[in-house]
Amino acid sequence: MLSLHEPTPATWVESVVGHLDELLVDHAHCEKKAAGVAMNLLFAYVDCVPLARAMGEIVTEELDHFRLVLDLLAERGIPFRRLAPAPYGARLQELVRKEEPGRAVDRLIVAGIIEARSCERFALLRDRAPDERLAAFWGGLFESEARHHSTYIRLAGEFAPQAAVAARLAELAAAEAAILAQPHSHPRMHS
Ligand SMILES: [Fe+2]
Ligand SMILES: [Fe+2]
Repeated sequence: MLSLHEPTPATWVESVVGHLDELLVDHAHCEKKAAGVAMNLLFAYVDCVPLARAMGEIVTEELDHFRLVLDLLAERGIPFRRLAPAPYGARLQELVRKEEPGRAVDRLIVAGIIEARSCERFALLRDRAPDERLAAFWGGLFESEARHHSTYIRLAGEFAPQAAVAARLAELAAAEAAILAQPHSHPRMHS
C-alpha cells in the first residue's frame, strides 16, 4: 500500500488501542511535526517553484490537522503535553544523504513514506475506534495524508530521474519497515 515495504503488524493496533489518550497526544505532535517538515523543505528548496507551492499547501493542511487534534483532545478533557517521541523519525533522518541533490530526493521520499505510514495507520485506527467520533476523525485524515504521500514522491522527481527515485524509494521503504520491526515501548503513531 502506498509504496510501503511491509504492512503494519497486527500487534501495533493491539498495543495502542488501550492507550488512545496518549496516542492522540502523540498524534497532535505528529501533525505539528509534519507542518514543520514541509516548512523546512520550503525554506531549503524555495527556488523549486512546484515544491514551494505544494509545501505552502501542506503546511496549511498539517496545521489544520494539528488544530483538529487539539480540538478533539479538549473535547475529551485530555491535556496536551510534551511526549518523548518514538525513535522512528530520527532514525529515518539518519538515512538521508548529506550531498545534494540526493539529500533533496531522500528528504522528500522520507516525508512521503511517513505520510504513507500515517495514512495506513489512520485506516487501522478508524476500524478499531471505540466511537463514531474517533472513527470519523481518523477516517477523515486518510485522504489528505494519501495525497501528501503522492505529492512528496512526485516532487522527488524534480531532483532525480523517475527511475532513480523509484529505486531509492524501494530502499528507504525497506529501511523504514526494518525500523518499525523493532517495537517502541510507548504507544505512538509510529511505534
Ligand atoms: Fe496531517
Ligand atoms: Fe500529511
